[in-house]
Order: sequence, then structure tokens, then C-alpha cells
Amino acid sequence: MMTLPAETQPSQPVSEPAILTEDLVRGFGEKVAVDHLNLRIDKGEIFGFLGPNGSGKSTTIKMLCGLLAPTSGKALVSGIDVRRDPERIRSKIGYMPQKFSLYEDLTVKENIDFYAQLYGVKGSGAKRRKEEVIDLVGIGHYRSFLARQLSGGWKQRLALCCALVHQPEIIFLDEPTASMDPVARRGLWDLLFTLASNGVTLFVTTHYMDEAERCSSLGYIYNSKLIVSGGLEELKHAKAVVGEGNVRLEVLCKPLVKTFNQIKALPYVQDVTIFGQALHVVSEDAEVLARLSRDLDRADVAVQQIREIEPSLEDVFVTLTKASMAEDEIRQKDLGHRMAHASGFDDDEDNNDA
Ligand SMILES: Nc1ncnc2c1ncn2[C@@H]1O[C@H](COP(=O)(O)OP(=O)(O)OP(=O)(O)O)[C@@H](O)[C@H]1O
Ligand SMILES: [Mg+2]
Repeated sequence: MMTLPAETQPSQPVSEPAILTEDLVRGFGEKVAVDHLNLRIDKGEIFGFLGPNGSGKSTTIKMLCGLLAPTSGKALVSGIDVRRDPERIRSKIGYMPQKFSLYEDLTVKENIDFYAQLYGVKGSGAKRRKEEVIDLVGIGHYRSFLARQLSGGWKQRLALCCALVHQPEIIFLDEPTASMDPVARRGLWDLLFTLASNGVTLFVTTHYMDEAERCSSLGYIYNSKLIVSGGLEELKHAKAVVGEGNVRLEVLCKPLVKTFNQIKALPYVQDVTIFGQALHVVSEDAEVLARLSRDLDRADVAVQQIREIEPSLEDVFVTLTKASMAEDEIRQKDLGHRMAHASGFDDDEDNNDA
């Protein structure tokens, strides 16, 4: 796993992290869903946890919320050990699960009342706190609607409301914007920034790259292992991610798909991808800009613009996933050879005497 330096000032005192995991593991039978996870997330950060379907994001969140016992390893949330004291963690955190889990037959207000009571929000301040959180999320208009009458996006907002009502220090949001329209998504992110500026730590999973770009730090998990973690800019610029000596070009041209196939066949091009109306080209050749311009000109491609660019976050994750897949393949092959050798079914010369 590659850990990139945090963007902290060296002169600042190192405070206790909001979340710390050391070799955290969770298995389900033979399947290892989270494999020796090491994370450090500071207070007030918006940490984006990314990874393909089934890579272990929700399992990690459930362990950190004290809802699922780790198989081994350690996790501290707000300084509390998740294995020793899962109950105490729940008063410090808010959790918005991936699957809607509120009471469909209760109204919006009744759901909020229920969660307030569950988390011990009582006394004279309770009414004020509930109204504050209703205003913050902007769900006042729907207060007397049944939860099941809400659209997907409004259900998500109600879930957030219920996760916030007890003023938690840390909030876990598992794909909070999965069914939201672009305006609602932006509204939710504005809200997350407001919470973070008040010192709340946010742990968010998402499949949207534009949301990942809004996080102050990121982790990328693939096949249950953390592949990389760090600040957004360091991640984009890390040599091991970008590839030493690699040049990335953006080519705006017509026709797009035909040119994509032509560029793919060029020997000095390592990778080419379609990005909206443009092509992204990766090459190890320092002269690629001049060479490609010349070759496209010869092929009568109408090039509007060709320029060097930085990798996008999506480029970074695609590069990391491909590298991890290649490593897995080598490991599997190696394992296959060893098993064949152990069982005497390999085609080594020593075994050909049968
Ligand atoms: N309760 C369970 N019993 C058995 N296997 C499980 C259980 N929960 C999760 N898994 C397995 O653990 C792996 C990780 O699942 P997890 O839900 O953490 O992935 P994820 O990254 O959240 O995926 P997604 O993006 O689809 O939400 C998967 O292979 C999944 O099938
Ligand atoms: Mg999940």
C-alpha cells in the first residue's frame, strides 16, 4: 500500500486522529472482505473512501461504527476501541447506511423524534436541536410526510437528518448521494462542508469522481486491500501512480472513435481512453506531442486542440486498478504452478518420466 504524506504543517502538534486502524481484518467464511487495513484520518477531515463494487467499503464502515466485529486488528474511533467498547462509539458517531433503513410507516418528524430519543437527545434543548437539524438539511416542508412517500433523494436527506440529530463528532456516510439529482448532490456537499468547517469528521464512500475531488483526503480500496491513501494533490502527482516519465495528452478531434482506434495502434502510445468529446493519451515518449500531431495530420484527422494535461482522479484509479489486477493475475498463476507442482501435474522435465 502506498501512503502519501499528509498535508499537515510539521510545526503543528500532532493531535489524536478521529479514526485510526491498524491491520484491521474482516472475513466472511473463506472470503476476506477487508484485508489488513491501515488508515489514519484527522479530525475535521472529509475522507473519501473509493473502490469498485464489493471491494470492502461498507464492511469497513460497519466495523468502524461498532456494528460488525473485526476478525483481527485494531480500530480506534474518537479514541475508543471498536472491539472493546462498540456501544460507546455509537454516541460519538452518526451513520447513514447504504441501504435506507428508517421507518417507512413513520412520518419524517416521527423518524427524527425516534432517533433523537434513541441517542438520548432529551430535555429543553431537544426541540431546538431537532428544529436546527431539520433546517440544516432543509426537510421542513416534508415534516408530516410518511418516509415511504419520499423520493430516493429526500429519503437520503432524512437519513442524514437522523444521523445528525445527536451532534456526532464523526459521521459515516455510505454512498449518500447514490440516488440524488445533481442539485440535491450539490446541496448535500455544501452541507458536508458546513459540518466539516465546524470540526465534524466525515467518512464518505462514493463512486463519483467529482465528489472524490471535493474530499480533503482519499483512500482507494481494491479487492479488500487499501491500494493508496493521501491528499488529493499528492495522489495525482505521486510518481508511482502517474508513472515516471509518462506524458498525458488531451486530444480534441473529429472523428472521435475512428481516431481512438488509430491512436490505439500507434507503437509509442501506452494507453488511450475516450473522455467525453476528447481522447486522453498516455505515452512514455517525451516527444509524443510532436509525433502524434504529425501522425494525426498525415491521417487527415481534424485536430482542434492537443495539449499536455495532468492525470484526472479517474486516470489515477484506473491506473491503480489495472496494476493491482495484473499483480493478482501473476499471483494466481504462481499459485496455480505451485499447486500443479505439488500434485505432480505440472509439465516440469522432472515429472515427464511417467
Ligand atoms: N454479511 C456478509 N456475508 C458474506 N459476505 C459478505 C457480507 N457482507 C459483505 N460480504 C462480502 O464482502 C465483500 C465486500 O463487501 P462490501 O459490501 O463491503 O463492498 P462495498 O465496497 O461496499 O461494495 P459496493 O460498492 O457494491 O457497496 C463482498 O465480496 C461481499 O460479497
Ligand atoms: Mg457498499
